[in-house]
Amino acid sequence: MEDRDAELTEKILNLKRRRGAVILAHNYQLGEVQDIADFVGDSLELSQNAAKTDAEVIVFCGVHFMAETASILCPDKIVLLPDIHAGCPMADMVTAEGLRQRKRELPGCTVVCYINSSAEVKAESDVCCTSANAVRVVESLDAEEILFVPDQYLGHYISTKTDKKISLWPGFCPTHIRIQPQYITNLRQEHPQAKVVVHPECRPEVIALADEVLSTGGLCRYANRSEVKEMIVGTEIGIIHRLRKENPGKKFIPASEQAICPRMKLITLESVLWSLQEMNPEVKVPEEIRVKAKAAVDKMLEVG
Ligand code: 13P
Ligand code: SF4
Repeated sequence: MEDRDAELTEKILNLKRRRGAVILAHNYQLGEVQDIADFVGDSLELSQNAAKTDAEVIVFCGVHFMAETASILCPDKIVLLPDIHAGCPMADMVTAEGLRQRKRELPGCTVVCYINSSAEVKAESDVCCTSANAVRVVESLDAEEILFVPDQYLGHYISTKTDKKISLWPGFCPTHIRIQPQYITNLRQEHPQAKVVVHPECRPEVIALADEVLSTGGLCRYANRSEVKEMIVGTEIGIIHRLRKENPGKKFIPASEQAICPRMKLITLESVLWSLQEMNPEVKVPEEIRVKAKAAVDKMLEVG
């Protein structure tokens, strides 16, 4: 660790103790940010963690919808997002007004929203899901016609795993669409022993070439298996830090070095320290929206 990082880390850990804070980090965060977190995980694991923490302050190292979900679940806690500009462009591809309009066009549809959505969109939805439980959530519903927002690719992936009719919304992740099928084909030729594991936000042509399609948490658990020695990783490259740290003898090959989420990288050790010093920026959801959004998130958490 560089001297500067060591100094910042020490300051963060001291202040974290004084503030009674817990630091949660997503698997795509910068390596040095993952290393100071109390818990690193995928969207589902992070929301489960936020729901059960008894810390008074949650420093959320991730993107806005993740901090918002923590605030939806824990309205009495202070939820800090160290850089308020860390939004998810895919989440911004659906608005509550746009969703209301589509619901009028599809009366009787049950709305499932990906957790990558705003609190307002969650409040307009029947249930929420993450990439870790999307198929289970859809299958658990007593409904045959589903409107899935905003990720068309995750929605398409679910439609290949269920008999239910899924109407898609044209959203997508600008990071995952950078992974092209030919990258996987070429890497497979170079590394014939490697397993190909991709995130369900990838295009269907990429998913078709994969051995496994998993959330970022599922991907980390899969990499821990003894039979996996080499892995081609089809998701945001921040996850490579955790994979290498947890599996020192194994080889992890990013499907694309371009698969970087710039918003995730806005959170730095400096911004985490400033955030704890100033107790800002805080993410808070208006109570009327929060109660409705919480119903959709709770319904998801019941499925697990
Ligand atoms: P996970 O829930 O799999 O961590 O994915 C979150 C995300 O934003 C993927 O781009
Ligand atoms: Fe959003 Fe994609 Fe970044 Fe995930 S990787 S936070 S879906 S833009």
